[in-house]
Amino acid sequence: MTDITTVSQTSVSPDVAAGVAQFLSPVVLDLTALVVNGKQAHWHVRGANFVGVHELLDTIVAHAQDWADSAAERIVALGLPVDARLSTVAANATTPQLTAGFQQSEVTIAEFVAQIDAALTTVKTAVNELDAIDLTSQDIAIEISRGLEKDRWFLVAHVAK
Ligand SMILES: [Fe+2]
Repeated sequence: MTDITTVSQTSVSPDVAAGVAQFLSPVVLDLTALVVNGKQAHWHVRGANFVGVHELLDTIVAHAQDWADSAAERIVALGLPVDARLSTVAANATTPQLTAGFQQSEVTIAEFVAQIDAALTTVKTAVNELDAIDLTSQDIAIEISRGLEKDRWFLVAHVAK
């Protein structure tokens, strides 16, 4: 019988786990910021295309929540913890500040696209760096990148000429 004390906690080396945590943790923080700021934008948008933008922002929030979960659980699956406490997100997320209060939809869209672009920069760094560290983790970052770019398109299409 296998002695449980001899079973490794993860299937990867400590160096691989640390590298994955280094590049996926910022992704978790930026996506968590998108969840919070997405709701803020969802509540305060007004004006042209109100229903479309209001409802799309909720869809983007749901996507960001799912992707944050995927990235966080990849780190945990490799045996390391994630720090996505609210204070850590506020201090370290790269997403810019949203303007407080009600906004016309053009402003909401411009500000939220800036949120997505900040997160995309973080995600692209993860894609590039994980290429040499762990392809399974890189695949998660690629999926997030593809999804964020699609959500960005859906948002921008409301104001594109
Ligand atoms: Fe709502």
